[in-house]
Amino acid sequence: MNELEHGAENTQEPYGSANGKDVVSGITVFPLEDHTLRRADTDPRIAARAERQVAAMFALSTICIILFVVAYVKIPNDNFIDVPVIGVVNANHITTGFLFGLAIFLIGTGAIHWAKKLMNDEEVTQERHALRSTNEEREAVNESFKRGAADSGFGERKLIRRTLLGALAAFPIPLVVLLRDLGPMPGKRLRTTIWDQGVHIVTDPTYRRIKATDIPVGGLVNAVPENLLKIEEEDGNINERGKASIILVRMAPAEIVSQQGEGWDYQGILAFSKICTHVGCPISLYQQRTHHLLCPCHQSTFDLADSGNVVFGPAARRMPQLAITVDADGYLVAKQGFQEPIGPSFWERG
Ligand code: FES
Repeated sequence: MNELEHGAENTQEPYGSANGKDVVSGITVFPLEDHTLRRADTDPRIAARAERQVAAMFALSTICIILFVVAYVKIPNDNFIDVPVIGVVNANHITTGFLFGLAIFLIGTGAIHWAKKLMNDEEVTQERHALRSTNEEREAVNESFKRGAADSGFGERKLIRRTLLGALAAFPIPLVVLLRDLGPMPGKRLRTTIWDQGVHIVTDPTYRRIKATDIPVGGLVNAVPENLLKIEEEDGNINERGKASIILVRMAPAEIVSQQGEGWDYQGILAFSKICTHVGCPISLYQQRTHHLLCPCHQSTFDLADSGNVVFGPAARRMPQLAITVDADGYLVAKQGFQEPIGPSFWERG
């Protein structure tokens, strides 16, 4: 076992032992085990092979980044493809996302492989010193700081001091101004959604119309308006999805305590916005027994059996409900659009 260094102010002494191990300042010190050489330590061919493997991972990562740039430039931003399991996605986003993720993964894997196979793996014990400086050193630093402050004239030269403070205060302004590049202000568009009377409710992300009989009591379905697909495919507008996403839950009609409007359910099926009214996280954590909807971001909880009212957490406003019914063929449709803004309450300000 390595010895602790004993400085003038660091007088940590081993003061006991337990099961044959030293105890220092209440901490049991375990002796190091004998170092075992790896195969790469003794066989140069194995070490060379490991080196080639690491280099291959780093080289592949570089290729992924080059392909990322090519994909970003070449794949049109309005090209949507149907990916098994995931559903309809933007081809540019999924390709660049995959390539970038793979590039990071390869760098990480290569680094781990390098460390495990080739870097020195001998354990060492670092001697511990007292962290606190001596009183003399602390005094010297204080003196040095005071001398520096006096030399700079910061206290006496008021003009320089004031203009410097003004310059520092103005310094963050460009950061605020640059926020303008985030795009045009949304204006009233955050207050409305594309839900309207007669719009079919379809599954998200497979765009399948839903019959009331498809949803069992206790079930939850993530859904969007059917007209969303056309808007995303033809106009390339992907902003409506966030506002229009809803969840459908079904409970026994007798369990419904209250709703935001008379008869807004269909045979116990209730539709609510999926966007938390706190700061806008999408929610679909639903507890069937209590009818509570729990936001994973800051734990706001909404009682869907009681008008979507907030029962816990920082959200200040209930979850907006969408009135629904069925068409002549029994498919669920909206009775009308949302009657209040969806999402965070700050969207309503202005
Ligand atoms: S976003 Fe839902 S609780 Fe904060």
